[in-house]
Amino acid sequence: MDAKLVLEGKEFEFPVLVGTENEVGIDFTKLRPRTGAIGLDPGFGNTGSCRSTITFINGEKGILRYRGYPIEEVAEAATFEEVCYLLIFGHLPTRGELETFSDQLTHHSMIHESLKKFFDDFPPTAHPMMILSAMVASLSAFYTRAGETEDVDLNIIRLLAKAKTIAAYSFKRSVGQPFVYPRNDLSYTENFLHMLFAVPAEPYNVSPVMDRVLNLLLILHADHEQNCSTATVRVVGSSQANLFAAVSAGIAALWGPLHGGANQRVIEMLGMIRDDGKDYKKYVGKAKDKDDDFRLMGFGHRVYKNFDPRATILKKAADELLGELGIDDPLLEIAKHLEEIALEDEYFLERKLYPNVDFYSGILYRAMGLPTDMYTVMFALGRLPGWIAQWKEMREDPRARISRPRQIYTGEAQRPYVPLDLRVESRSTEPELVKV
Ligand code: SDX
Repeated sequence: MDAKLVLEGKEFEFPVLVGTENEVGIDFTKLRPRTGAIGLDPGFGNTGSCRSTITFINGEKGILRYRGYPIEEVAEAATFEEVCYLLIFGHLPTRGELETFSDQLTHHSMIHESLKKFFDDFPPTAHPMMILSAMVASLSAFYTRAGETEDVDLNIIRLLAKAKTIAAYSFKRSVGQPFVYPRNDLSYTENFLHMLFAVPAEPYNVSPVMDRVLNLLLILHADHEQNCSTATVRVVGSSQANLFAAVSAGIAALWGPLHGGANQRVIEMLGMIRDDGKDYKKYVGKAKDKDDDFRLMGFGHRVYKNFDPRATILKKAADELLGELGIDDPLLEIAKHLEEIALEDEYFLERKLYPNVDFYSGILYRAMGLPTDMYTVMFALGRLPGWIAQWKEMREDPRARISRPRQIYTGEAQRPYVPLDLRVESRSTEPELVKV
C-alpha cells in the first residue's frame, strides 16, 4: 500500500507501514530528497521516530502492554526485577535467568566510595532529581568503557543496581540522616526500602505491604514507548554517547512539570486546594481559564484520550494502601472529588482530559513516607528499565541514525553586516543590561 502526496502539481508516492496492532505509518524517510519539502510537526505528536517492539499503547482504548503483556496482568503478578528483564531482554525470565539477574543487581548495588563523596558538596537545597541526573552521568567517570559494546550488559546491570542506591542516598542526605549501605540478602525493592528508611538506632524490617506497593509503582512506570524522556534518551544515544550520559539526559527531561515532575506538582496542587477551603470550583475554573497558566496537574495526556490504565490501577492501590496502613489522607478524597468534577465538565470531556499516571501516584509515595521532591525520583527509578531497553533497541537497530531534525526558517532574509560605529541605538531594541 502506498500514500500519495501531491505537491506543486507533482504526485509522489510513499510506502505505508502497518504495525502489529494495525497502526499505520507513512514512511517519509525520503520525503526531502524526493520532494524538497519537509514535514513540520512541533512536539512530534504525529511523527514516529522509530519502529519498536518494546511497549504498545492504544490511547483511544486505554491499552498499555510491555512486550505484549497487558499492564494489568504484569502489575498484578510480576516483580519489578522480572519487568526489568522482560523490557530489556524481550522475554519473561525463567527462574534460573531471574536468579542470575537478581544476583547481579544485588552485587552491583554499591557505588564507589569516591562517588559517594560527591554528595557532600551538593547544597542542601539541591533537588534529588538534579543529584540523580548528575550522579548517573558521573558513573561514566568510574566505568570509562561505558560506550564499549562488550560492556553493555554489565553497564546495564551497574546502572539498574546503582541508581536505586544513588536515589536512596539523595533522600538520606536531604533529611540529614546517614547513608545506609545496600544488603545482599534483600530483593531489589526490599533493598531500596531498607536504604531509604533504615536508621542506625534500630533494626528495620521491610513491610511486605510497602514492598508490594513499591513493586507496583515501579512496574507501572517502567516504560511508555516514545515519551519525552525516552525520546531524549534515544536522541542523546543516537550520537553514540554512552548509556550513563543518555539516561542522565532522560532524567533531566523527566524532571519537567509537564512530564514526570507532574507527580510532585499534583500533591502540591491538592495541598493548595485543601488549604484554600477545598474550593474545587475555583481551581477547575482556573484550569479552564486561558489567561491563567494554572493547569490541573496529573490530568491530560498526549496519547491517552481515555483513562490512563495506570491511573486506574493506582487509584485502587491508593485506597488499599491507605486502608492497610490506617492512614486517612484528605488529599486522596480531594483528588477523587476533583476527578469527579472534571469528568463532568465539558471542557475536560471535550478535550478528552483524564487522570494520568501522575494523578494518584503521589498519594502512595506520601503514604510510604517520602517527601514530595522524591516523587519524580521514584518515577525515574521505575522508568530506568524502559530507558535502557529503548536505548539498547536503538543501538542494535541497523536503521538507526543520529537524530537531526530539520526546520522551517522564518528569520531575516540575507542582509549586509553593519560595522559597530554605524549601528544606531534604538530605544526598543536596547538590551536590558543586568544591574549588578
Ligand atoms: C507523563 O508521554 C507520556 O507517555 C508521558 C507519561 C509517561 O509515562 O512517560 O505518561 C508521563 O508525563 C504524564 C503527563 C504528566 N503531566 C501532567 O499531568 C501536566 C498536566 N498536563 C498537561 O500539561 C498536558 O495534558 C500534557 C503535557 C500531559 C499533554 O500536553 P499536549 O498533548 O501538548 O496537550 P495540550 O497542552 O496541547 O492540551 C490540549 C488542550 C489545550 O486546550 P486548548 O488549547 O485546546 O483550548 O487541553 C488543555 C490545553 O490547554 N489541557 C489542559 C490540561 N492538559 C491539557 N487544561 C487544563 N489542565 C490540564 N492538565
